Formats: sequence, structure tokens, C-alpha cells
Amino acid sequence: MTLKKKIISHNNFVRGRFKDDISQITADFTASLDIDRKLADFDIDGSIAHLYAIEKAGIVGKKEKKALEKALLKIKSEIESGELELNKKYEDIHMNVEKRLIELVPESGAKLHTGRSRNDQVSVDFRLYVRSRIKLIANALIDLRAVLASVAKSNIKAVIPGYTHFQHAQPVSLAHHFLAYYEMFTRDFERMMNAYKAADVLTLGSGALAGVDFDIDRRLEADILGFGNISRNSMDAVSDRDFALEFNFALSMTALHLSRFCEELIIWNSFEFGFIKIKDEFTTGSSIMPQKKNPDVLELIRGKTGGVISNLLSLFIMMKSLPLAYNRDMQEDKKPVMESADTVYNSLSIFKEIIKTLEFDKEKMRSGLKDDSIYATDVATYLVKKGVPFRKSHEIAGKIVSYAENTGKTLSTLSLKEYKKITGYIDEDIFSIFNPESSVNSKKTTGGTSFKEIAMVLKEYEKEIENNKKSIQALK
Ligand code: ARG
Repeated sequence: MTLKKKIISHNNFVRGRFKDDISQITADFTASLDIDRKLADFDIDGSIAHLYAIEKAGIVGKKEKKALEKALLKIKSEIESGELELNKKYEDIHMNVEKRLIELVPESGAKLHTGRSRNDQVSVDFRLYVRSRIKLIANALIDLRAVLASVAKSNIKAVIPGYTHFQHAQPVSLAHHFLAYYEMFTRDFERMMNAYKAADVLTLGSGALAGVDFDIDRRLEADILGFGNISRNSMDAVSDRDFALEFNFALSMTALHLSRFCEELIIWNSFEFGFIKIKDEFTTGSSIMPQKKNPDVLELIRGKTGGVISNLLSLFIMMKSLPLAYNRDMQEDKKPVMESADTVYNSLSIFKEIIKTLEFDKEKMRSGLKDDSIYATDVATYLVKKGVPFRKSHEIAGKIVSYAENTGKTLSTLSLKEYKKITGYIDEDIFSIFNPESSVNSKKTTGGTSFKEIAMVLKEYEKEIENNKKSIQALK
């Protein structure tokens, strides 16, 4: 049997050392094509970079390189159009591509894997995948932040009750509440950019674990694939999945932030709160209760967050006992990352649309402030301004709240006489503090809820978003 015949007659062409064919059950169990078919484009890009390097190393000639590159690009479009049927019997995407290449260009195709192992190949493919998904998601985060900033801008003057322990705490601007999430998504953006850096390392040239015996120009490969760095230890390179974990962590944090926001909006959307209305197109009906308009999308984003966090954990657990270098366990790394990347990207996209079209019931929000014990801290502050030490003023304000409660009154309906009975420090001007706007605007610190401060921070955000867009464009 000639070498050529042997290669193409085998179902699985890495079985030269075996007497028997692989059993069906083993083939099915070990195949990863269902998952790694998503790496097809990256696998071909990686192969092209490797092809240039093996040409430079003299392993294939110029003509062969041209023919192989053409064939690889043809395979790419065949996969995209569905023309090429990928087959599980070739185990994974890498071997499916190689198999087809050998079919198209038999002699030269069989040379492509010189100086390469599937271990460095899969690492580079996965890194390319992670980089591309990070770009998508970082962009989606920017879009969502821009929407949050614009909703905030139109609602600076809407005052709502702010909560701690889910109890009325102090009045805040609706914009301030929304921009708290802007900050979270900004940190998520930064985390994505850091995860990009972790993935931005070329690992081709590491071979199975020890490096390869040919003059592979790794700088050339890095330049072709746009990698900023080149790995420095081949054993680490083929077994490092930190980059996938970092990406998965960034995804989990993003999902967590989305989930908290969803929870809040679900509450705000309830009859009892009635702060917001979600556009019909993002809600669903009930099969039995005709009146229902359910915030299912928000519930699902919240629900899917559990899966995203589990994916992070499953990757950690899969990795935790692996000795150097590559182990087949690592084939299980792609599913949790790909699943979470899709979930978070889809969640961000639909969530942005919901926020964009949210209707606010300002009356309802304001009526939440009718419980004017929410001004108790402002009463304590009033007393401080009159010269009472804070701990003392806190105690007096507490007494006032309790007096109001016991007499069935509220802070703003107590008479000046009643106030004076409790403390001599209170004058007529006390009544001016029971007002949402003056409470909000009496906050003086940077990062506080005053209208002025929010307007200022919004200007900062505008610049920040522009800069963030530029930093994504600068990525390869
Ligand atoms: N399908 C494998 C993975 O995803 C490719 C690497 C296989 N390497 C090996 N030595 N069996 O991890």
C-alpha cells in the first residue's frame, strides 16, 4: 500500500500504530465535532499561518503553499455554505479540515501537520475564538452602557426612593440608580479587555508539548494571526486554559450584573411598584390568566445566569487536577465557554432593547416618596448644621420618627410646636427639607446623587465610551 492510499483509506488517519479500528462506541464518546465545529474558521486561519511558517522553513515549496492556501480557503467556504459535510468519524474539526485538505491536495496536504500537534493547534484555535467573542461582547457592553447613559440623561430629575435592606433609605435620582449599573458594566468591559490580553498569546510552535524540530517562524505566525505575544514555555502553552477561565469569569460577572438589574426591574414592573412598563414585544402572556403580561425575558436572563456561573465552576473543576501538559479532559473546555459566551451576548443584546424602550411612571415613583421617614437622615443632617454633634442628632431624629409613628403622623405633618417639644434646635425651615429635589441636591460629594454631579459624570461617560470604542478598534 502506498503512503497516499494508506492515509486516505483510513477513517481515522492517526491510527498508524493500531492493529484494529476504533470501536464505534469509542469514536462516538471521544468525538468533539459537535462542539468544536464552531472553531472551523479559526482552525483554517491558524492552518494558513502555520502553512506560511512551514513554507519559510522549507517544508513545502512556494507552489505547494499556494495550492494549500487556496484549498484551505475553499474548505472554509465549503463549511460555511454547508456543502462540506463534517463527519464525526474524524473526531474533531481539526481532523475534518485536514482530511478534506488531503482529499483536495493529496501529496502536499499530508505535509501541513509537519511541526504542529493538535495540542498547539486547538490552543491557538480556542484563543482566536475567545478573542473574537470578547470583541463582540465588549462592543455589546459599550452599546448597553450608551443606552443606560442616554436613559439616565433624560431622567436626571426623576427622583425615586433609594433602598438599603430593601427598605426606603434616601431619595436618589433615577439616573443615579441606572448609572450604578453603568459602572458595573464598565468594569465588565475592562475585565473583557483583560481577558483579551490573556488570550492574545500565540501558542503554535509548541507542538505536542516540547516544541518542534523545524524552523517555525513564530513571529511570522503571530503577525499573520494578529497575536500580541508569543508563549515562552511550550508545556505551559499547550496546557494553559487561564485565558478561558478569565473570559468565563468576566462573562459570569456580566451575567451577575444583568441578573441583579433584571431582578430589580421585575420588582419595579410589579403592580405594587408600578415604576416601569416593559414594551409588549418583550413580554409574554399566560396560557390561563388572560390579564397577564409577564417579564419573561428578564426572568430568563436572571435564570440563565445560574448556568453561566456553573460553566465557570465546571471549567475550574475540570482543570484543577490536571498534570502537565495536555490531557484529553481539556476537550471539555469549549462547551462551557461557548455556551456562556452565547448566553451573555444574547442577554446583553435583548436587555439593551428592553432598557431602550422602557416606560417610566414618574407619578408612581414619586408616590414612593410619600413615606417621608425617608427624610430622617436629612433631619439628622439639618440638626448637625445647627451645631448638634452627629451621634446626638441621629438620636433626636430617631425620636422624631418614633413620635410621628406613635401619633399617626409623618415627618412633614408634625407641627413646629411638636418639633420644638422634642428639640430646641428645630425652626420653621425644617419643612423645606421634606422635598425630593432638595434632599437629592443637598448631597455634595463626587459620585453622589445630586443633579449637578450626575450631569458632570455623564459628560465623563461620553468621553469614556468614545475611548473604549477606539480601544476595541485597536484590537487585532
Ligand atoms: N479535540 C481535542 C481538544 O479539543 C483536540 C486535541 C486533541 N489532542 C490529543 N492529543 N488527543 O482538546
